Formats: sequence, structure tokens, C-alpha cells
Amino acid sequence: MAKSGGLLALCLAAAQSVAAAVTFDVPSKVGTVGYKYAPLDPAPVGISFEFFAFPSYFTNVTSTSQCLANWKALTGVWPPIRIGGTTQDRASYDASTSAYVVYTVKTAADAPSALTFGPKFMTLAGTYPGTVVVGLNRGKNNIENTIAAAKVAVSEVKNLLAIELGNEPEYYTKDGQPIASGTWNPSVDAASQNNWNIRVGSAVGKKNIIQAGNWNDAAPKWGAAQLIASGNGTAREYVRHYAHHNYPGGTIQSLMTHPTTVKNVRNQFEADVAAVKAQTGKEYVLGETNSVSGGGAAGVSPTFGAALWTMDYSLRAAYHNVSRIYFHHGTVGNCQYCFFGRYSMGAPYYGAYAAVALMAGGSHITALDSGTTNYAAYVVFDSQGAPLRALLYNSDYLSGGGTRSSQSFTLTGLTAATVKAKRLTAASAGSRVDQGSSPSFGGQTFVDGTCVADGTETYETTAVSGGQATFSLKATEALVVYLQ
Ligand SMILES: *[C@@H]1O[C@H](CO)[C@@H](O)[C@H](O)[C@H]1NC(C)=O
Ligand SMILES: *[C@@H]1O[C@H](CO)[C@@H](O)[C@H](O)[C@H]1NC(C)=O
Ligand SMILES: *[C@@H]1O[C@H](CO)[C@@H](O)[C@H](O)[C@H]1NC(C)=O
Repeated sequence: MAKSGGLLALCLAAAQSVAAAVTFDVPSKVGTVGYKYAPLDPAPVGISFEFFAFPSYFTNVTSTSQCLANWKALTGVWPPIRIGGTTQDRASYDASTSAYVVYTVKTAADAPSALTFGPKFMTLAGTYPGTVVVGLNRGKNNIENTIAAAKVAVSEVKNLLAIELGNEPEYYTKDGQPIASGTWNPSVDAASQNNWNIRVGSAVGKKNIIQAGNWNDAAPKWGAAQLIASGNGTAREYVRHYAHHNYPGGTIQSLMTHPTTVKNVRNQFEADVAAVKAQTGKEYVLGETNSVSGGGAAGVSPTFGAALWTMDYSLRAAYHNVSRIYFHHGTVGNCQYCFFGRYSMGAPYYGAYAAVALMAGGSHITALDSGTTNYAAYVVFDSQGAPLRALLYNSDYLSGGGTRSSQSFTLTGLTAATVKAKRLTAASAGSRVDQGSSPSFGGQTFVDGTCVADGTETYETTAVSGGQATFSLKATEALVVYLQ
């Protein structure tokens, strides 16, 4: 009896201490034992544009340039973009067309089942001052057409980072793509990728030019490790880096809950990233990703809960040595997960913005939490190895009704006398900009249709005492803390 009573008391004490405060010790220097550290890309968060829709985003959606410029203002670097998706494998290059893209659709909400694009498409991509990944067609099995397009991409896109040869090839059989008309499985696809990498890479005269992989189905079956093992050094030297896609899906609550995100990123990518690092030393990116596949789910993807997922997921991926993450943007006007469009902002832009604000100018990131509770903490370090900023996240779910709980987070090991912070908040997890309930970050919002910041930038100030500061986060909220 005494024994089990003691155990009960211990359990109660543990439960109470969790409810009372969570404490995270901020390492004084990058590399301090007890944590894992990942190096940061200068611009780890980027945007993927569906191939056929890219010219529309760049010529006919005012928000695009401003939404990207807002991040450049934080980091000093234009965010990376990728142009690709399902329609890259439906597209043929037509040197004679003066249009960006040519296609017909029954309604504006549809994606075309076939399209052509001209040299101007690449000229337009070449106007972007940040890095560009261009996705080209492998499904049609017309390598001469793809080589012709690759040559124009190389000559026109001055910030070309890489070329993809095919998007999500595991679906080629289902999609009736000619290249998969015989046997099609991971090893046949890998042999095809190796062969195309060599042929396209040598045709454009560039090594380190291919973004390889690009599957959505899970590794290891459809993963970089098997692709690397299948090829020889010649095939691999054309590869600049490896990519995977990911759409975790779920309800708002499961999506935004921190342990779900931790498990998703770890289970999908930890082993595959490690294999790429160990065998090639090359980068690993999430070449196309967002909350729910197929353009998003109306009840999930445009919400503040999805925004918090976007933030947490970007940071967890960075922590797992994913160099860049490209959030997909599909058909203009028919895209639940889009960060911006012609008329309305998407709540997820705010989550991505907070992640960019945390990582801006940082050289390394660590996660202080083990991913087993709803409370997360990340720290980003500057180039001297000193802690620069922290992000605290309370992923307790607030559906809308009822009272909103709050959670105290204590940071220890701080050196400043006071710290300031910017809060990412909204009325509830279900808040949507297009339904009149915008999130805010540091008191600011972004104007529908333009993405210009609105309102007064607001910092909260917290005193540090004995190296400690305590912050209160309501359920479904995050806070970026500026440590220097
Ligand atoms: C540009 O946007 C308008 C709606 O504002 C649309 O009707 C038109 O088709 C778009 N043009 C292109 C090239 O996407
Ligand atoms: C490497 O593999 C490619 C096929 O992907 C093949 O054509 C080439 O001959 C191989 N090179 C060597 C040196 O084995
Ligand atoms: C990321 O890579 C570094 C080596 O650069 C390694 O020390 C660290 O453990 C990796 N992070 C994770 C979460 O595995």
C-alpha cells in the first residue's frame, strides 16, 4: 500500500509540475552536450509553385512578390522557390510558342491534363532574384524534349539551383505515364533516374545540377538511400541534392499537435537524411510539401492550426537536417493550403513567417524538447555560436468554444537583463483569414491581396532574473523570443 501510495504521489507531483511550468535550459553555446544541432541554410523556408500555375503567380497575383519580399526583409536572402508538381509531367516544351504556358481547362479551378510552355516561361523564372528549382517532364519518356527545356532553363534562369526530372514517379503507373508502361517499381525508377541524370546533366554540361528523388510515398521504399545504392559515381556526380515530398494530413488537432509533427518528421526523414549525409555529404530538401495532399482540405489547411503546424514542421525539419522546405501552391483560386492568393491571405503564411523570423540569419538550430508533450522549444544560434532567438510553442488545442488554458514556459541560462518577444496568435485553431479571423504576429497582419504588413509591430518585454525568464502562452499559441 505504502509503495503504491508513494507512486501515486509521485505521479501527481509530475502531473502538477507539467501543468505548472515547463522549463528549458538554453545552451550557452552551439554544440553544448545534451542536444543535437543542425546547420541552417540562409533561407530554409521556400515556396513551390505548381508548374502550370507559376506564370499566373508571377504575373497576375500581386501578393506573390510581397509575401516573398517580407521574408527577404527578415533574412536578407530571397526565399528559394521551386516550380513543379504533377503538371510538370504533363508539360511539353514548345520552342515556337511566345506564351508562357498554353492549355485549356473546363473551369478555372481545374489543373490542365496537358500543356505546352515556351522559352518565356524560363525567362520569367530567371527574373526571380532567389534560387530556383525547375521541374521537368520524365513521365512522357521524351528525353529530347526535356533536354531542350533543360538547356533553356540553364541559359535563362540565372539563379537556377537544380533541375528535377519527374515529379512523384511512384504514381506514373496510375497516371498512365508512358515511361512506366512496362514494369515500374523503385529499382526501375532508380535506374531511369540515374540514366536521365547522366543524359540530361551531360547535355547541359553541368555536374551537381539534378534534384533527385522527388517521391511522395514513404522511404525507405521510395527513398534516397535506395536511389544512391542503385547508381554509380557517374550518376551521382550529376546530383546536386536529394528531395522528398510529404503531406501529413489529419484533423486540425492532430496536425498541429507537437508530438504528431515530431513523429512524422522523424519517421519519414531521419534515416533517409542520415543515409544521404553519410553516403554523399549532399543536401536533403523537402521539395514539395504542405498540410494535406490534393490542394489541401477545406476544413484543415486554411486554419490557424495549420499555420502552427507549418511553423513547427519547418523548424523540426530544419532540426533534422532538411536544408530547405518548399510549401506547395497549386491552382490559383482553388488552393486550400496556399499562403496567399489573389484575394485573401492564408493563415499558414503567419506560421511560416514566424519560422522565418526565428531562423533569420541563424547558423544552427536545436530543439530543446524531446517531442513527447504538447510544449516545444527551439533555439537558433548566431555565427559566433551564441543563442540568438528561441521559439516556444503551446500546441494544446483550442477549438473555439470554452475557456482558453495557458501554460508557463521558463527559459534558464539567459544572459540578457531583459528579453523581447513577438507573439503568434489567433482567436482559435480554426481561425481563417477568409472568414474574418486573421492571426497576427507581433501585433501585425498582412493585407489581403497585397501581403503588405499592417499594424504596429509589437514586442513584449520580459525581465530576466537569475538567468531565468517565464513566459505565458495560451493554448494554440507561439512566441518568438529575441535573446540578444
Ligand atoms: C488574371 O486574373 C484574373 C482575375 O483577377 C483572371 O480572370 C485572369 O484569367 C488571370 N490571367 C492569367 C493569365 O492568369
Ligand atoms: C554508370 O551507370 C550508368 C547507368 O546509370 C552507365 O551507363 C555507366 O556506364 C556506368 N559507369 C560506370 C563507370 O560504371
Ligand atoms: C544533424 O546533423 C548534425 C551533423 O551536421 C548531427 O550532429 C545532428 O545530430 C543531426 N540532427 C539530428 C536531429 O539528427
